[in-house]
Amino acid sequence: MSELATHKKHFLSDKVSHFTESVIREMTRQAMVHGAINLAQGFPDFPAPAEVKKAAQEAIGADVNQYAITWGAKSLRGAIARQVQVWQGVTVDPEKQVTVCCGSTEAMISTLLAVCNTGDEVVIFEPYYENYGPDSILSGAKPRFVKLRPPASPKGEWTFDEHELRAAFHEHTKAIIVNTPNNPTGKVFTRGELELIRDLCVKFDVLAITDEIYEHILYDGTKHISMASLDGMQDRTITINGMSKTYSVTGWRVGWTIAPQRITDAIRKVHDFLTVGAPAPLQEAGASALSLPESYYMKLAEGYRKRRDRLIPALTEAGFQCFLPRGAYYVMTDIRAFGYPDDLAFTKYLVSEIGVAAVPGSSFYRDPKDGASQVRFAFCKRDETLDAAAARLRKLRRAGGSSSPRRH
Ligand SMILES: Cc1ncc(COP(=O)(O)O)c(C=O)c1O
Repeated sequence: MSELATHKKHFLSDKVSHFTESVIREMTRQAMVHGAINLAQGFPDFPAPAEVKKAAQEAIGADVNQYAITWGAKSLRGAIARQVQVWQGVTVDPEKQVTVCCGSTEAMISTLLAVCNTGDEVVIFEPYYENYGPDSILSGAKPRFVKLRPPASPKGEWTFDEHELRAAFHEHTKAIIVNTPNNPTGKVFTRGELELIRDLCVKFDVLAITDEIYEHILYDGTKHISMASLDGMQDRTITINGMSKTYSVTGWRVGWTIAPQRITDAIRKVHDFLTVGAPAPLQEAGASALSLPESYYMKLAEGYRKRRDRLIPALTEAGFQCFLPRGAYYVMTDIRAFGYPDDLAFTKYLVSEIGVAAVPGSSFYRDPKDGASQVRFAFCKRDETLDAAAARLRKLRRAGGSSSPRRH
């Protein structure tokens, strides 16, 4: 009998029964158990930029080791406001509109806790980054899903049905979460799509909460458009971003929100009591990182473009159908050629027998059946890692017994 079962009260909140632990993070643990190459979780296996690391070391050396201002070091908030002006042409008051959090993960949950009441609905495109589901539940809101449909051709785009999106908005809709560039699909929302979302937000008096942490990781000439830059959206958009992906420091846990003042005040209250503040010396390093020249961002995107174009042919040769990402650093694939009953059985086989960890597609959908033929790979890895994974993937067998064509 379990320890808790001996008590009359079961002690656990009802909320926690409505979601599981992160499948993505579980796949990293599985990779460690099996000695597999981890193409599951989205963190780089190459070093962070030297100048950013040096800035952190200097901040610690200079004794920036106590609590920063709870809503973020002035230097970092100033750098965030400057960047948003440069990249998106949006004017932000760093004193009144920026809140630095422990990663964009905390930024998202603090935002939802600050704006949602029980019974509110939050529109989420699916497949979706898995945190949004539990985040909505923890904030008392009900997620309402709108499908992103895979492209019909290998180089096509993920799209959504305008009527389905319109039907998701009604009087109880509090917010829509838009993640562009998108994890897991690699979709970069177009201006037309964002304007449609904008029109619905205005019509139904709804907030847009935008997760833009892959804003600089773009391919094939795509452009990142921030929802807050659209006419009519500045007073109803909460922009979420962070250092993790742009500066390859996922372990630092520095992210932020940019929101209208009244919403910022509410987010700051939640943030203060959740975490007090993000790591002070790393915020100072963040201010230096956000001052890197434009060439840094060009190189970042080009580096990921090369990695994308290294992994996708290897996956295709191994038998995966790949959906070409236009941004972020993941590739969604279709696994039907392998004849497995579902994505979970397949990823289990992949991690334990082939030695490559990937994320089962079902973890990105409310109904696991919708993702049963999909698997996501992350390509934010060194060339050696991607090549080693490719060599292992050649051992995969397709349905009907044929192994993928062997390279010499
Ligand atoms: C879409 C998206 N948002 C947020 C996060 C988490 O970001 P952070 O490290 O800033 O908490 C991730 C990490 O993979 C992500 O893919």
